[in-house]
Amino acid sequence: KIYNVVLSGGVGSRLWPMSRKSHPKQYLEIFNDRSLFELTIKRNQKISTDLMVIGNKDNENLSQKILEKLNTPCLKITEALPRNTAAAIAFAALAVEKDDVLIITPSDHLIQRMDEYEDAIQRAIDLANANYIVTFGVEPTHPETGYGYIEHKGDKVISFREKPNHITAQDFIERGNFLWNSGMFCFKAGVLLDELKKFEPEIYEKSVIAWNANQNGYLDEKLSLDIPANSIDYAVMERSKKIKVVPAKFSWDDLGSFEALYDYFRSGGHPVDRNGNMIIGSEVYTAFVGLSNCIFVSTPTANLILQKEDSQEVKNVYNYLEKKR
Ligand code: GDD
Ligand code: MG
Repeated sequence: KIYNVVLSGGVGSRLWPMSRKSHPKQYLEIFNDRSLFELTIKRNQKISTDLMVIGNKDNENLSQKILEKLNTPCLKITEALPRNTAAAIAFAALAVEKDDVLIITPSDHLIQRMDEYEDAIQRAIDLANANYIVTFGVEPTHPETGYGYIEHKGDKVISFREKPNHITAQDFIERGNFLWNSGMFCFKAGVLLDELKKFEPEIYEKSVIAWNANQNGYLDEKLSLDIPANSIDYAVMERSKKIKVVPAKFSWDDLGSFEALYDYFRSGGHPVDRNGNMIIGSEVYTAFVGLSNCIFVSTPTANLILQKEDSQEVKNVYNYLEKKR
């Protein structure tokens, strides 16, 4: 079988206050009235045989609503709390047969040019069947620090570096043979589990314990808390020798931050003033004086004013408010 595994556990803290814990960004219907979650499922229906959604109990209803609308069978895994992608992906791999192929797709990407997309996935499936762990590499356009970087020669991966600092990212871009990690992956379930066991035995063991105690796909909270929270990028991609990269010829956008959303909205004709300032979510006349490249985000319960280039820092506000609660 070939599973499309949709990861839908993040809260999108960098898009606060548009994205909330109770309504994360992947469910915002701001793309011609569709959400990124729905677009993700649809995009992968042709190239997979089965669908799996891994979310948590806070967004279960939001996922369910869309699954019912699409009327598609789905294996659902519901986490008691997010333990980041290493554990989530381990659960997905444990839920299926060792030789099943998993196409892991985040639920918060905007992808266009379907022919190229399907070609890339097909190449990845072939490599996965040859026991590789496949990443998808996007041509970088700027020294983004929120992404992973893949140093490569053709489909051979020389190194993988998750979220480098600005200077390192700049160096990677200048060196030229680095791609952004798209955050999508493709591998056989058994191959990924073997690598996780090798590099992060504790995450592996504790995920197995939690998985074995699941009730109809619902994970237990106490057992989940025991699992170290880490992303698959640090846990496996930076260390494994089995990584390959398929260059992404399709157009790819991680709308993970206001900077990315700004670019997307702007190219779609959303207005900015002559200093590049943008208003999101407000109809009220708003002026920027002495500011440039700023974004004003307005929601009924909170406002945010930010320098576009500091978009990665928005999660600090989210984390601060979480702590205060
Ligand atoms: N089920 C579940 N549980 N899903 C999760 C969890 C979790 O605990 N944590 C995150 N996710 C989901 C998010 O909803 C998102 O769809 C995906 O996994 C990736 O998580 P992010 O938190 O968005 O990761 P990132 O953006 O910091 O980094 C990843 O994506 C970049 C590209 O967008 C990495 O793979 C980077 O290397 C990559 O460049
Ligand atoms: Mg992301």
